[in-house]
Amino acid sequence: MNYKLLVATEVAKAVDNILSEEDIYKKIERPKSSDMGDLAFPAFMLSKSLKKAPQEIAGELINKIDTSKFEKVEAVGPYVNFFLDKNSFSSEVITNVLKEENNYGNNSDGENGNVTIDMSSPNIAKPMSMGHLRSTVIGNSIAKILEKNGYNPIKDNHLGDWGTQFGKLITAYLKWGNEEDVRRDPIHYLVEYYVKFHKLDKEQPELDDEARDWFKKLENGNEEAVRLWKWFREVSLEAFNETYKTLGVDFDTYNGEAFYNDKLQEVVDILKDDNLLVESRGAQVVNLDEYDLNPALILKSDGASLYITRDIAAALYRDRTYKPVKNLYVVGSEQTYYFNQLKKVLEKMNLDSAKGVEHVPFGLITVDGKKLSTRSGRIILLNDVLNESIDLAKKQIDEKNPELPNKDEVAKEVGVGAIIFGDLKSERINNIDFVLEDQLKFEGETGPYVQYARVRAESILKKGHADKYNFSDVSLDNKQSWATIKLIQSFPDIVKEASENLEPSVIAKYSLRLAKAFNKYYANERILDDNDELESRLALVKSVSIILKESLRLLGVKSPDEM
Ligand code: ARG
Repeated sequence: MNYKLLVATEVAKAVDNILSEEDIYKKIERPKSSDMGDLAFPAFMLSKSLKKAPQEIAGELINKIDTSKFEKVEAVGPYVNFFLDKNSFSSEVITNVLKEENNYGNNSDGENGNVTIDMSSPNIAKPMSMGHLRSTVIGNSIAKILEKNGYNPIKDNHLGDWGTQFGKLITAYLKWGNEEDVRRDPIHYLVEYYVKFHKLDKEQPELDDEARDWFKKLENGNEEAVRLWKWFREVSLEAFNETYKTLGVDFDTYNGEAFYNDKLQEVVDILKDDNLLVESRGAQVVNLDEYDLNPALILKSDGASLYITRDIAAALYRDRTYKPVKNLYVVGSEQTYYFNQLKKVLEKMNLDSAKGVEHVPFGLITVDGKKLSTRSGRIILLNDVLNESIDLAKKQIDEKNPELPNKDEVAKEVGVGAIIFGDLKSERINNIDFVLEDQLKFEGETGPYVQYARVRAESILKKGHADKYNFSDVSLDNKQSWATIKLIQSFPDIVKEASENLEPSVIAKYSLRLAKAFNKYYANERILDDNDELESRLALVKSVSIILKESLRLLGVKSPDEM
């Protein structure tokens, strides 16, 4: 039941519909403090048509409104304050959650529209960085949130598998590489060659010439160049997939940059036909002066394509293949300028989906205060961080609950969940510094804290033999439970807010609030006392468990039943 709508309906009836229900609905407020009621109608909006002071109108309204549906209706100054009937409110909310289960909060706002989500997109032959971790987990969560809001998300891993760096890598591999080594530990050795190349190319400029040659060969389909490139790509993908498996993330497509190679000429042709391409010092560019942006470089003077050329081709391909209502790019905020350029070029091309193009930026991530970089060779491998977190979780479980069955599985869910939650709990644009031990604490704003609240709920349900009830008649006195109930009731709004802002932190923060409210309820209420209300309290606990699990699922975090 929509309580705001109930208030709007009753007010509209009371004023003989001189204002429509919809207009009233829009003006309903939530009073700051709960002793002013749960919802309020400001009578100002009627004073013109009734030619009376709002105070007077409010006073008259409370005699006309059918108050039987509320606990109390009061006129305070120009406001009519509504106190919801706590008992019917809570019984309705809980009954609804138990009926809908994990579908509670679903809506169809997205009307099944396709949304492409460009996410993760690591670079071949390089380790996946913590920045790619952010893109992966933020993108994955946004996909789940959009799906709950009725959209059809398409997760697209735009692998960095093309570009001049492959000329460097091939050069380096042919000079210093060893096939056995690469087979054994591909990313490690490929990075080593790449780093060595960058150390030496300052003194040996001929290295750069060679690299340029090899890239040209690769572009022209030279057999050896293509064979090496394919091999690097394959072994890198195997390593990435291991990480994706640990994170529990999958993709709908892995169309990397190279996929668009045979689609670049069309981009150039379209830009030319539209008179958008101009020559600038031998290169081909699209001018973006009118937007105060630097020109977008489409072809270098030697005819080589660039990152943006492939992105334009990708946007064109997505436009045709999916007709997306949104085309999102979950990429760090350091590429904001670039995505501004890309969007403007697509708009100038009059691409149907250009309006839906949106960069979804996020802040930098540091681990224990250290920045990450590949060229300098100081890299923190994502896999190492994940494994360390799983080990730490395992240690905690060994201390707290040594008898737990399938400890390894739970340690993985807690360890990985802690990292994902730690990433998603603050607004994505914020920079975050990761201190692993902090993310793994069972207290405070952590994933394990939320997981543990649900474990507690599950254990109460087990002890109370909740499965023998059908929860057909829920009735709570709501002294201790009101805060929890109101949070449960607001979940559908939270789901919408997260979707509108493309912001997983809205869900993460909500899950922390709900876990906290529930823990307080648990501390103050004797839930398992055998009296009339027992069944209703178990129904509430079950609702909490359902919503905590669903919130964590929307973040891409697992919910162990025990831990
Ligand atoms: N591979 C790029 C990087 O690691 C990210 C690609 C983002 N997606 C895109 N369509 N440009 O920086």
